[in-house]
Amino acid sequence: MKDGMTIAVSKGRILKEALPLLARAGVQPLDDPGATRKLVFETNQAGIRLIVIRATDVPTYVLNGGADLGIAGKDVLLECVSDNLYEPLDLNIGRCRLMLAGPKDAPAQSGRLRIATKYVATTRNYFAAKGQQVEIIKLYGSMELAPVLGLSDLIVDLVDTGNTLRENGLAPLANIADISSRLIVNKASMKMKRARIKPFLSRLAAAIRE
Ligand code: ATP
Ligand code: PRP
Repeated sequence: MKDGMTIAVSKGRILKEALPLLARAGVQPLDDPGATRKLVFETNQAGIRLIVIRATDVPTYVLNGGADLGIAGKDVLLECVSDNLYEPLDLNIGRCRLMLAGPKDAPAQSGRLRIATKYVATTRNYFAAKGQQVEIIKLYGSMELAPVLGLSDLIVDLVDTGNTLRENGLAPLANIADISSRLIVNKASMKMKRARIKPFLSRLAAAIRE
């Protein structure tokens, strides 16, 4: 957006943790994003607005200049690596792990493994680095169901407490990446709106340390 500074925030669990962090950095939406269908929120800071969108759309908005800054999980960012984004701050929220997991006590598999995941690029890179060819089955959610119903041998998904894996008879096999939410900045915005963005980054960095 041309005037002011727009921050895109992933809705859902990241939003819940991001709002108190933004408040500590001095930015508070004038309406409660949890209590309205609004998508754009003016804040107590004139010229700073929040948009609340799906996690996977945050980098797209920031890359295309629809938003100047964004708050997104590293899992989402690993899927859309770009030269046009800065990633200056680890916000230390939305902590979990991206893991390879599979059925407990499954017999060793010969032949090409089938992996169900929402994280196609990261999964491809992970197995390519091991020199292993796999078949990747793209899903948009509930990955844990795929091995249970024979759709795949293994899954790549986010794990926090491990409850979802356990309750579906799965066990973790390997940690692919430690995940947390990051602040991303459009490179052109950083140049054009430096005077506004830089002080905000400093306040946010202080809020993370609090
Ligand atoms: P979408 O709306 O795009 O389908 P989603 O339904 O997966 O996304 P959430 O489950 O709210 O949305 O997850 C959004 C982000 O929160 C993820 O990208 C990840 O960074 C983080 N996250 C997801 N699950 C966990 C978890 N169990 N613990 C901590 N952080 C998580
Ligand atoms: C996330 C993730 C796992 C689960 C892991 O799902 O996709 O399924 O959390 O957390 P756990 O290890 O603590 O069980 P989420 O709750 O966000 O649901 P959704 O992605 O299906 O919307």
